[in-house]
Amino acid sequence: MNQKEIHTYPDPVLKARAEVVTEIDAEIQALIDAMTEIMYSAPGIGLAANQVGVLKRVIVFDRTPKDRERDPVALINPEIVLSEDEIKWEEACLSVPDFTAEVVRNGRVKVRGIDREGNPLDIEAEDLLGVCLQHEIDHLDGILFIDRISTLKRALYKKKLKKKLKGK
Ligand code: NI
Repeated sequence: MNQKEIHTYPDPVLKARAEVVTEIDAEIQALIDAMTEIMYSAPGIGLAANQVGVLKRVIVFDRTPKDRERDPVALINPEIVLSEDEIKWEEACLSVPDFTAEVVRNGRVKVRGIDREGNPLDIEAEDLLGVCLQHEIDHLDGILFIDRISTLKRALYKKKLKKKLKGK
């Protein structure tokens, strides 16, 4: 896999719901490793399996998104078990190139999943990392951040995209 394999809107794989992972085998671990590499080379701070065309509930992200030091984490079958507060954040997505928009999310979340080795892993996050986790888990449910903005702003993006495609 390489960076070119990031699927972009309106690819239907981004609208599909990813399946629960029932076995953590070499194939899932290889997927995680490839996704991690793609995330850093993009560069991005998080990536969901849908974005590389695989419908499995797997996300990768960097636990220290603001630092230079890399701390990649993979979560299999991630679930938001606690969410509180509200935050507005300017979001972007590797699958929605050249567009950002403010999205309202929870300010603080606790996410529960399974790590690359098959151990349970809870992550508590706020601000950028919390937003990132909510954004990536949305991907697994076939939801993009542009689905969470106003119809007017979304229409603006679609218009921009049409122009861009025409220009090619
Ligand atoms: Ni995204």
